[in-house]
Amino acid sequence: MILITGAAGKTGRAVIQALKAKGRFIKALVYHQDQELILRKLGVQDIIVGDMRSHLIVDEALRGVRAIYHICPNMHPDEVQIGGTVIKAASSAGVERFIYHSVLHPQIESMPHHWHKLRVEEMLCESGLSWTILQPAAYMQNILTQWDQIVDQGIYAVPYALDKRLSIVDLMDVAAVAAIVASERGHEYAIYELCGPELLSPYEIAAKLGQKLELEIKGIALSIDLWEQKARNAGLSTYAIGTLVKMFRYYKLHEFRGNPQVLGWLLGRSAETFEGFLDRVFPEYGSNSQRDR
Ligand SMILES: NC(=O)c1ccc[n+]([C@@H]2O[C@H](COP(=O)([O-])OP(=O)(O)OC[C@H]3O[C@@H](n4cnc5c(N)ncnc54)[C@H](OP(=O)(O)O)[C@@H]3O)[C@@H](O)[C@H]2O)c1
Repeated sequence: MILITGAAGKTGRAVIQALKAKGRFIKALVYHQDQELILRKLGVQDIIVGDMRSHLIVDEALRGVRAIYHICPNMHPDEVQIGGTVIKAASSAGVERFIYHSVLHPQIESMPHHWHKLRVEEMLCESGLSWTILQPAAYMQNILTQWDQIVDQGIYAVPYALDKRLSIVDLMDVAAVAAIVASERGHEYAIYELCGPELLSPYEIAAKLGQKLELEIKGIALSIDLWEQKARNAGLSTYAIGTLVKMFRYYKLHEFRGNPQVLGWLLGRSAETFEGFLDRVFPEYGSNSQRDR
């Protein structure tokens, strides 16, 4: 059995589906009682509800499992402490495999959510556990949060430079790799960068969205102040806002490039392109924001 932490988030759900397709038995750690239902719908029976910052909860979650896929909640101020708690508990429980969901280029110090993941990677290297680290680029799925604005107003808005290119990746490919490394031998002590085949700027993303939707989609660079105001109104935490602002400042100055070769090698096929991703999500999301979700 494999334990998935952060199981009810978008990464956790994708990883669970990929592992279930391989017939793996899954135990899931979720934060709130109402997230149990999400997991039950995915066919997970063994569910622990609780706070992953708690040693007691993590110890209980690790009881009876042979492997763990650790997903820290996005933009969490305690990522290093959580990583330490989970690694220590996994060592005490004697788990055979520890897979850590990290991020592309964790060595970038000016982005705290990257730098904190590097510290967790360091702890893993020194843990004595048999580990694998996955370092995904930004998910293509992130654009779906602004789908209504894209189709209703013809605007794709980002608070950084429109001409800077970023590596992106389809979360479904990341999940497929998670299931492969969790189920096959030979991935012990590996660190894998997971990037899709293209580097795309926000201008290029807007153009591809326009072609797919047969609409004129304009790439717009929001000011960081305006983005911050919107994020505060939407209820994002102060820590998450501060961390994202640091990331946007980085993206303003630098491109964010990784290498796509490893992902294709692990999948044994070409990784998904952005157009392929749009073809897949289009039937569900479509060109009308008034659809059912
Ligand atoms: N998004 C990307 O493009 C991308 C790319 C590369 C790597 N990553 C990394 O992927 C990881 C997962 O991202 P995600 O967007 O899937 O995460 P997420 O949606 O934040 O999901 C994490 C889950 O953990 C739960 N949670 C929060 N605090 C918890 C706690 N103290 N104890 C137990 N559970 C808790 C959340 O519940 P609530 O919803 O109730 O808070 C949520 O269900 C992050 O570490 C992120 O840095 C993301």
